[in-house]
Amino acid sequence: MNNSSIPKFHEKTREERLKILEIFSNLSKEDMAILRTNGGIAFDQANNMVENAIGTISYPLGIATNFKINGKNYLIPMVTEEPSVIAAASKGAKIARKHGGFTMDSDESYSIGQIQVVDVDVESAISKVSRSTDEIITLANSKSKTLSKMGKGAKEVTCKEINSELGKMLVVEMLIDVGDAMGANVTNTMCEGVAPLIEKITGGKVILRILSNYSTKRLVRGKAIFDKHELGGEDLVDNIIWAYEFAANDPYRAVTHNKGVMNGIIAVANSTGQDTRAIEAAAHAFASRNGKYTSLTRWKKDENGNLLGEIEVPMSVGIVGGIINIHPMIKTCMKILGIKSARELACVIAAVGLAQNFSAIKALASEGIQKGHMRLHAKNIAISAGIPQDKMDFVISRMVQEGNVSVTRAKEILELP
Ligand code: MEV
Repeated sequence: MNNSSIPKFHEKTREERLKILEIFSNLSKEDMAILRTNGGIAFDQANNMVENAIGTISYPLGIATNFKINGKNYLIPMVTEEPSVIAAASKGAKIARKHGGFTMDSDESYSIGQIQVVDVDVESAISKVSRSTDEIITLANSKSKTLSKMGKGAKEVTCKEINSELGKMLVVEMLIDVGDAMGANVTNTMCEGVAPLIEKITGGKVILRILSNYSTKRLVRGKAIFDKHELGGEDLVDNIIWAYEFAANDPYRAVTHNKGVMNGIIAVANSTGQDTRAIEAAAHAFASRNGKYTSLTRWKKDENGNLLGEIEVPMSVGIVGGIINIHPMIKTCMKILGIKSARELACVIAAVGLAQNFSAIKALASEGIQKGHMRLHAKNIAISAGIPQDKMDFVISRMVQEGNVSVTRAKEILELP
């Protein structure tokens, strides 16, 4: 079986890294050509996707190593502009491997569609809708032959009453198994499709017909154990748990803590062409589900004094549809991951979020994050100063040690003009 634990991956050249991916993920010549040429979308494709297009824009794509999730090894493509994120995810995954990696589990891919009904006697409308659920479900499913054929599609219809300043309204909710798609389109189509029937059944007026991005029926959850010895002892385990308690009990800290989680989640969502806004919106609503914004992860000690991390988060992602079938790099990233289902992708994304959060709070609870950042900053400066590759480490170390990171200093160290 392929092993995603690849020593010194960060020290390898781009070509060496690509060759490793080629073997690990069994990439074709075409995939390799796409990766080597940063194969993006052409202007015409961009122009078909958005309005007033003027071009495309590129972001760094890197690979997180060491991930083992539900017993399977993954090399994980991450797209982010932030230094340290990919290294941090890889480091977290490396430590988690000692105790088997990440154990993840995701719900079925259920999306929620909402149909808002006003000018209606809500109580009697609820009984009428309840009596007609089969008819509503059948009509909804007639809007997607693909889902129906797979035995997926609309499964349940429920009602809720909402009070507002304008009076009461009825909201009819449809639970739809969208399979391997993110499902926004099919959910909206079904909501719009059943709206006239719901008006007929209830005698009310339908206004909105739209999916809810608060995908609480599509949660992913999981855990990993981080060995106390790998962390350098139980003191750091204790400090990390204190760091977690801070986030758990203070929204000001929780937002930053969760931002760290999202550093991982969104970077994988980017590389796999997901709707990152939907993921973010749902995650933060979920973090507030008990009335107070809190941490998306939980950290405690296990019975052996090791650090146990857990995550639970809504994850509305797909492996088919939209840009996923169009963008050459995204298609190749999917191949690198070797993902077989949307639920598997949800597990991978959440595992990266947990690894990311681990590395962030580990650094924060020990030496702080500036040391690592400083080295990366120094590297960027050394590149700008034109420092040759073989002198790079020397110059970076000197600048960091001196606390003087600048193009001028980098050149001075090597006595460059
Ligand atoms: C930086 O992008 C993310 C962190 O601030 C997360 C955290 O504070 O936990 C390091």
